[in-house]
Amino acid sequence: MAELLSTKIHETLPEKYVRPETQRPLFSEVITDTKIPIIDLNSSVDQTIPQIDHACQSYGFFQVVNHGIPEELLLKVMAIAIEFFGLPAEEKEKLYTDDPTKKVRLSTSFNVRKETVHNWRDYLRLHCYPLEKFMPEWPSKPDLFQEVISTYCKEVRQLGMRLLGAISLSLGLEEDYIKEALGEQEQHMAVNFYPQCPEPELTYGLPAHTDPNALTILLQDPEVAGLHVLKDGKWIAVDPLPGALVINIGDQLQALSNGRYKSVWHRAVVNCNNERLSVASFLCPSNSALVSPAKKLTEITPPVYRDYTYDEYYKKFWSRNLDQEHCLELFKS
Ligand code: OGA
Ligand code: NI
Repeated sequence: MAELLSTKIHETLPEKYVRPETQRPLFSEVITDTKIPIIDLNSSVDQTIPQIDHACQSYGFFQVVNHGIPEELLLKVMAIAIEFFGLPAEEKEKLYTDDPTKKVRLSTSFNVRKETVHNWRDYLRLHCYPLEKFMPEWPSKPDLFQEVISTYCKEVRQLGMRLLGAISLSLGLEEDYIKEALGEQEQHMAVNFYPQCPEPELTYGLPAHTDPNALTILLQDPEVAGLHVLKDGKWIAVDPLPGALVINIGDQLQALSNGRYKSVWHRAVVNCNNERLSVASFLCPSNSALVSPAKKLTEITPPVYRDYTYDEYYKKFWSRNLDQEHCLELFKS
């Protein structure tokens, strides 16, 4: 059985984390002088809508600043996450599971039951909406965990809805089109902890993947870099911009936009000097939502994807490993 990494110090990289030579990160080829777009949400919509349109078509990623979530809260979330992974091993082992159907789970790597090579990551996954339903199942330690994380969840949801409105407009749809199409959206969170790694060039924190949900809002460690985004066949490093949030299009918005917006491959690498944290918030269609390319967009280009329920998609996603083909390829019309 795979074990949590964050319960001890590692002097060497165990064999089961070593990628075959052809699949390693190749740090020297990563682009560091190109940036994903930064969008200031304080600007007028006349400015932001075309910026969002360009970012979602060309990168599938952008960062937002002046997004309305106080930086102080972002720092508190990071601090409580560090504290969580610093809890005694016995405390964390109580929460450990490798069953991906569990709604609260502390786990490691990605999908240890399916994968042949493990990833240098521990993670805590939570369901976050509605809060009253799920919060009682969250970890009760550290003391402030539930309070800080639930406050952040509310803020993130608000920001997410605002972004979905802007993305609808940038697609030429009614402002509430996406919100309506996705139904009562679920909200999930992954608190990712990437320990210091003795041999970062041989492994990943998270290998290349696309996010299966609709929209992802990522709070990155303000000091330690590690996120890479694929653009035109090259990996671009997304260096931390303190106070900013990284936004990316998930598979469901690629489908809904009929392929105009891209759910782009991205990965997390690790390093030998520092541990790294990130907190990913995922907005997801309701399970029963029927996802289909917006009719207005299929008038120009015929539907690229067939209609499917999110339930069907999500089950397919978790039945596979990461670094296979894009899951959406299996839903082409
Ligand atoms: C994710 C993800 C990137 C990171 O959790 O889906 O892509 O930098 N995380 O941790
Ligand atoms: Ni991701």
